[in-house]
Amino acid sequence: MTVDLAGHVVETVGYNGKLPGPEIRVRAGDELEVRFQNDLDAPTTIHWHGLALRNDMDGVPDVTQPRIGPSDPFVYRFVVPDPGTYWFHPHMGLDLDRGMYAPLIVDDPNEQVRYDDEAVLVLDDWLDGIDGASPDSTFRALSSGTAMAGMAGMGAGAGSASMADLGDVDYPLHLVNGRPRADAPTVQARAGGRIRLRLINAGSDTLYRVAIGGQSMTVTHLDGFPIEPVDVDAVSLSMGERIDVVVALGTGVWPVLAVAEGKAGSALAWLRSGGGTAPAPTVGDRLAEHDRRLFDVASARAVQAVALPVARPDRSVDLRLTGAMKGYAWGINGRAFVDHRPVEVAQGERLRVRFRNETMMVHPMHLHGHTFALAGERGARKDTVLVKPMGTVSVDVQADNPGQWMIHCHNTYHLEAGMATSLSYVQ
Ligand code: C2O
Ligand code: CU
Repeated sequence: MTVDLAGHVVETVGYNGKLPGPEIRVRAGDELEVRFQNDLDAPTTIHWHGLALRNDMDGVPDVTQPRIGPSDPFVYRFVVPDPGTYWFHPHMGLDLDRGMYAPLIVDDPNEQVRYDDEAVLVLDDWLDGIDGASPDSTFRALSSGTAMAGMAGMGAGAGSASMADLGDVDYPLHLVNGRPRADAPTVQARAGGRIRLRLINAGSDTLYRVAIGGQSMTVTHLDGFPIEPVDVDAVSLSMGERIDVVVALGTGVWPVLAVAEGKAGSALAWLRSGGGTAPAPTVGDRLAEHDRRLFDVASARAVQAVALPVARPDRSVDLRLTGAMKGYAWGINGRAFVDHRPVEVAQGERLRVRFRNETMMVHPMHLHGHTFALAGERGARKDTVLVKPMGTVSVDVQADNPGQWMIHCHNTYHLEAGMATSLSYVQ
């Protein structure tokens, strides 16, 4: 498809010719059928990020299904068990860092959070087709070690493994709902109402810190699951994560600014209520709110109804996040996915997974088919969790969905380099 990014006209790939792809909206408990047709010239699959669905619909090529070849159809059909904010994307190659991503919203028939309006804001870092860049050329440069600080398209991180790194790639554009700052989208809401914003980080190598000028916000859901509400001024999302916030609005126009953490650039949307005739204020690179109360995932508490029941882990496993910029050899326990040793689990077991980051780079770690709990008293339910440089994060997994499930870093380039293993149910 061809996309016009505020004057940068690029050829890319996507779903149904749209950027982001079409939103799918269902109710919890619905059976969803998606008739997919691959019109690309390369094989692909669709992964339904965050859903505890049946394993054979999970969309991992050569693990849960065969690759879907060019011009092949494939029907995805599964029950959507849990409400919340989810999304879908390919699970092959680097097409996620082109235009292949879209929201999947699952409405809750028993929604406890009250709001009048809602909007989905999908964040994305974009380089495809800008100044001749592509995800393939970017990955080649990263892998061959020719990506140096200051080189077009590459962040300072590529040259220096000595500093804590928030990303390998400098992106020329950052998008909200497929639009860069120069063509920022506007979300219209009713004056005096409460709006629910469903934030999705569909980026490949960028953490976003999101704040709203002149507004605080209440965090209500993480990765689709409700938490005890927390009032903050800013939230940070790593790749794959979703955060829902509710904002109480008077009448006016407010910037929603997503700043790329540790890099230059930002993505922008406007929130407008009332008549909407007031001229939009200008906005700089950062808002005061970005440096006020920042949401802390570790201290969030799952609401009682979705908390993982208290149980002692039957078993603990350590997953060491390993790698080096030299050779771009990201892995888990020193192995790339081609040589991975699965984490074995039996149905009914409670597993504690300890992610130990032995690198100076951030890694958002994602588990398919389950929503783990951050270890501790009523830890938040999540499917993707950021593990900071040299940091450790422990999560508890209730093994209740048999199959072969990926565990991987949600940096598209790290995953392509093999930073993945699997959770493998055994008898
Ligand atoms: Cu959104 Cu295996 O990932
Ligand atoms: Cu990573």
